[in-house]
Amino acid sequence: MHALSHRDQQVCWHPYTQHQTDRILLPVVSAQQATLNLADGSQCLDAISSWWAVLHGHARPELVEALSTQAQTLDHVLFAGFTHEPAVQLAETLLQLAPSGLNKVFYSDNGSTAVEVGLKAAYQYWLRRGEKQRQLFLCFDGGYHGDTFGAMAVGDPDPFFLDFQSLMFPTLRLPMRVDAVASVMERHENQIAGVLIEPLVQGAAGMCMHPPEFLQQLRALCNQHRILFLADEVMTGFGRTGHTFACQAAQIQPDILCVAKGLTGGILPLAATLVREEIYQAFLSEERNQAFFHGHTFTANPIGCAVALASMKLLQKEQTAKRLERIGQQLFSSLRKLEDCPQVKEVRQCGGIVAVEMKAADAGYLAQSGAALRQACRQQKEVLLRPLGNVLYAMPPSCTTKEEANRIAAAMHQVVQDSLLLQQD
Ligand SMILES: Cc1ncc(COP(=O)(O)O)c(C=O)c1O
Repeated sequence: MHALSHRDQQVCWHPYTQHQTDRILLPVVSAQQATLNLADGSQCLDAISSWWAVLHGHARPELVEALSTQAQTLDHVLFAGFTHEPAVQLAETLLQLAPSGLNKVFYSDNGSTAVEVGLKAAYQYWLRRGEKQRQLFLCFDGGYHGDTFGAMAVGDPDPFFLDFQSLMFPTLRLPMRVDAVASVMERHENQIAGVLIEPLVQGAAGMCMHPPEFLQQLRALCNQHRILFLADEVMTGFGRTGHTFACQAAQIQPDILCVAKGLTGGILPLAATLVREEIYQAFLSEERNQAFFHGHTFTANPIGCAVALASMKLLQKEQTAKRLERIGQQLFSSLRKLEDCPQVKEVRQCGGIVAVEMKAADAGYLAQSGAALRQACRQQKEVLLRPLGNVLYAMPPSCTTKEEANRIAAAMHQVVQDSLLLQQD
């Protein structure tokens, strides 16, 4: 075992890791573009953008430069009672890039907090408007919105959150079917505060994709019943689906939009929740206690905002959404042949996201059928792949070259074949 892994085991507790059985940790010493350089001298392609965050590639000079310049100018200041250029400029830029109808930006630190802010703002919006009975959130089977309590409550509890169920507020969780949504909205007329959805692609569920028409129908139902539409674009935002935002693929306008991950190009923790003017206005009052009492120490951290601004410039200059779409198409055209394999259920693509779903008696993140895929991923060392249960997927950064995309596709072919052999053993 590498000395660093050994020291790590003495002192670190890793996310989503069963330390009793998952003992292998790969020490990384540096990263450039799509490549991670490991301590043993080997290299590995980051085909999942380090948990869907690294957007343009590792160590992009424009982002590093923005980080360093801002750190030397204004490193941090509280955002209550103060403001600064990077935060204001980033808010202006985000509102220009986002679907129209959004007017104010609330900053936080990560995807979960962006969702918490959205849920709290939606809930209090109805309170401030005197519609106290609107206390329910509608959400979807398979949904994942983060690991804090509010985000857990609107996520599918199975398998991550089952232990916490008695601590969470009740929600209306539905399959992604228009008839199911319509009938629940009718049954709970005037009781629903908002609907929260990962538009176009449910990431943690296994890159499950739905058509833009579903979002349009959902938006229409929200309009009909005066329900707020909350879009969680923490994963899908900033070009991942081939559009700057997934909502734009469906030409719909959310009332609240949550973003994080790729906002800073994926190199610093920063998140934002964009809301309509009416929502912001509902908190205005002569009474101090009517304000939105929410904040984090690092809300609108200037370095994070400066890096995010540089990332947004790249997004526009390099047409990141189109680049990602091209990479996705290349991967898909190679991987779709896997559908001939009787054990493969489906190969699907949305923008730069490509997924191969294996047939399985049990689906989901902890599916037994996923064990062989996981083992096969570990066996090949060239490409970083982490299956979601019985779904193998890739979502590489926009700098990924054609040759690198070929290597990712080849590794995925290999993993599928190896996993079938492992299952036979
Ligand atoms: C759709 C979605 N929302 C929220 C989150 C939570 O983001 P974070 O891990 O930054 O808290 C994630 C994380 O994967 C996500 O995919």
